[in-house]
Amino acid sequence: MEETALYPPHAGFVSQANVSGYAAYEQLFQRAAEDPEGFWGHLAEEELHWFEKWSHVFEWQPPFVKWFVGGKINASYNCLDRHIEAGHGERVAFHFVGELGDTRDITYRELLATVCQFTNAMKQAGIQPGGRAVIYMPMVPELPAALLACARLGVTHSVVFGGFSAEALRFRIDDLEAELVITADGGWRRGKEVRLKDAVDEAMQEGCASVKHVVVLQRTGSAVTMREGRDIYWHDFIAGASAECPAEELDAEHPLYVLYTSGTTGKPKGILHTTAGYLLQNTMAMKWVFDLKPNDIYWCAADVGWVTGHSYIVYGPLSAGATSVLYEGAPDYPKWDRWWEIVARYKVNILYTSPTAIRALLRQGDAYPQAHDLSSLRLLGSVGEPINPAAWEWYHRVIGGGRCPIVDTWWQTETGSIMIAPLPGAIDLKPGSATRPLPGVQADLVDLDGNPLEGPGEGYLVVRRPWPSMARTLWKDPQRYESAYWSRIPGIYFTGDAARRDEDGYFWVLGRVDDVMNVSGHRLSTMELESSLVRHPSVAEAAVIGKPDELTGQAVVAFVTLKQGEWDHSILTEELRQWVGKEIGSFAKPKEIRFAEGLPKTRSGKIMRRLLRELAVGNTVSGDTTTLEDFNVVNKLASKDED
Ligand code: PRX
Repeated sequence: MEETALYPPHAGFVSQANVSGYAAYEQLFQRAAEDPEGFWGHLAEEELHWFEKWSHVFEWQPPFVKWFVGGKINASYNCLDRHIEAGHGERVAFHFVGELGDTRDITYRELLATVCQFTNAMKQAGIQPGGRAVIYMPMVPELPAALLACARLGVTHSVVFGGFSAEALRFRIDDLEAELVITADGGWRRGKEVRLKDAVDEAMQEGCASVKHVVVLQRTGSAVTMREGRDIYWHDFIAGASAECPAEELDAEHPLYVLYTSGTTGKPKGILHTTAGYLLQNTMAMKWVFDLKPNDIYWCAADVGWVTGHSYIVYGPLSAGATSVLYEGAPDYPKWDRWWEIVARYKVNILYTSPTAIRALLRQGDAYPQAHDLSSLRLLGSVGEPINPAAWEWYHRVIGGGRCPIVDTWWQTETGSIMIAPLPGAIDLKPGSATRPLPGVQADLVDLDGNPLEGPGEGYLVVRRPWPSMARTLWKDPQRYESAYWSRIPGIYFTGDAARRDEDGYFWVLGRVDDVMNVSGHRLSTMELESSLVRHPSVAEAAVIGKPDELTGQAVVAFVTLKQGEWDHSILTEELRQWVGKEIGSFAKPKEIRFAEGLPKTRSGKIMRRLLRELAVGNTVSGDTTTLEDFNVVNKLASKDED
């Protein structure tokens, strides 16, 4: 195996780090492994505010866990009030940057006032703890405020990424039986308005019977349709509401949010996270992984619509008392130096983004970053997909000036917080490896039968013991929770990823082993895409695969057979892409659509996806979308070969 370069943190970084030196990491890791109750119990007391202390640290009845049993807590109180009480009310929570250039600085005190007003308004509207709200908003300060207001009252929220379609929104509203939808007229993306309220209206044409109130923030100021008695503007909703509102004393296990993510079936999974354990482990990740200090300017350039935004724009940073940048728009608007201009303007110290974004920025050349002063940066982060060494090296050299450690963070919507990542003042880096598990995380590798693998090797990535921020169940579907994650090896969490462990014990995450694709760091389900395509009136059958892509990690390729008739393939290609965009969201549109007379199948009728993958990668059949692929020969061969 070829030698991998090692990047030890420089002495200046180590000396100031929250976890300084390998021995300090190892000590934390050992303590957590030997005495998880003592370890997490101590941190929960030190790091969070409680209305009432828990009676025991955790209760594990595989696959269901409770953390800090009997404790009373409020996430919004931990994210806001306690910092103000400690004298930090004037600290900026968010430096907001709108895409069109408008900026606002929001202090912790101001954020709390907005949150309290919104919470009071919800109460006046009759919404109670235990209720549910769907949030479909642009990346403006009112978005974290809406999440925190829900958390303050004990309303379980579900944020739907603004790029999801009306269809996807309707499914989530219905599945959650939400009584409140919080949205905006629109938001700005690449200089164009993304019209959110229109999508809400479309979603509500059928179904969504549970919704009683739709609150609409005026962001773009464009005209929207408001339905009398149901729809109300944000400013009217909070008009007259007091800016003071006590936080509800909620159970440690109160459902904080549901976030829908793609699984291996056509139906998205509603991942449920609860309050105290989720908050604690994310607070710790801010200190351990992002090495956060009180004066740092931190920027997670994700969207709150994904789990990264929940944990590392809203709950983690605010609970840790951070000052963050919140940017509404695209990295290339108006030009490809927008991010670097923001880093220089706010003197950002910590930047967290995805390999796809890094690769897109890299392609534009060095002149854009070099035109700005990036010397404030001291730490860089990556998330969502494996980072290839070339992108890592560019990020390190051009953006980080060679001085900033890169924390490659492996985790999932289900894990709630970062699981495998270097503590930057303690662990030597290897480009492309997420390195070692965090304290309290018992990551391991197993073979096909679930037998543990010792030492270096490749296998399925699992987590042996429960951790505080783990998903508690799937919304209304505990059975699927059990079968998706806990049935392969009873009592052990199955991540769905394969990984390699090297001779130094470092983990290298290789990718998914199930029918889940990772496109630009976003999860897409093969089945969800296939079900969408076969709903189109011209489509008889569809098979979707992920093809390696230089920019987005994987790209969606769909093989489609059509119903009888005369079809113009080039028109249909665009029509089917639009169709998927409308059913799921534009980020899910297939990059390639290839038409076939019949799909290659085993004798028992299973589509041979592996073969399709080979064909798509090698382009050995036909890259020309206007001709039909002919799988007849393959099918004849397959029926001979099988069994
Ligand atoms: O395959 C892994 C990949 O993203 C999946 C989780 O996707 P999602 O729940 O959407 O969460 C993304 C943001 C946390 C994982 O199963 N993945 C995530 N981070 C990494 C990664 N693959 C390699 N390296 C990473 N750092």
